[in-house]
Amino acid sequence: MEETNSDFTIRYMAKEDIDQILLIEQCSFPAPWTARSFLSELQNKFARYFVLIDQERLFGYAGMWLFAGESHITTIAVHPDYRSQKYGRLLMKLLIDCSIDYGADTMILEVRESNTPAIRLYSSLGFRKIGIRKNYYLETHEDAIVMLCSLKQDKKEEEDDEHAHQGGS
Ligand SMILES: CC(C)(COP(=O)(O)OP(=O)(O)OC[C@H]1O[C@@H](n2cnc3c(N)ncnc32)[C@H](O)[C@@H]1OP(=O)(O)O)[C@@H](O)C(=O)NCCC(=O)NCCS
Repeated sequence: MEETNSDFTIRYMAKEDIDQILLIEQCSFPAPWTARSFLSELQNKFARYFVLIDQERLFGYAGMWLFAGESHITTIAVHPDYRSQKYGRLLMKLLIDCSIDYGADTMILEVRESNTPAIRLYSSLGFRKIGIRKNYYLETHEDAIVMLCSLKQDKKEEEDDEHAHQGGS
């Protein structure tokens, strides 16, 4: 999978990306993942990880696990210099499209209760709060908000479109 336009490229994450990803991790998360965490994710057959790259550098990434009809978002980050330019939304839409293609009915994620930018992003895409995981982030003793997005409506609209096209041909 690779999509390019004049400004950036989106493709699957590769081992060679990890050094650049770790720099973004350091300035994005209180408990950054290590190289080993990413290497292990790249070997996980249930995982899909994507990166965003421009002429200068890798500036964003996101990933998820796809299994049992569900998609579980594991990470998303955009380099601070590139934030508030809709790249986070672009990465989320990519994960949503990929989950629909896989046939997932729902998407689920955990987010720090203090992470307003991320919560707003997810809410604007149809995720809603379904619970709290107490003390989920051990290093800060913060609770996680669990958010879920149902993809059934999207799937139904796709099926309706397909039937409409078939009916019209
Ligand atoms: C969360 C994150 C990925 C958003 O990426 P981004 O590229 O800056 O976001 P976008 O420009 O696509 O913004 C999409 C929406 O997110 C919300 N948002 C983004 N930045 C925001 C901010 N600083 N304050 C409030 N809402 C914000 C808004 O709803 C925005 O929609 P709008 O522009 O129509 O108002 C980015 O802030 C990031 O990398 N944070 C550090 C890592 C992280 O916390 N990841 C989430 C872990 S659960």
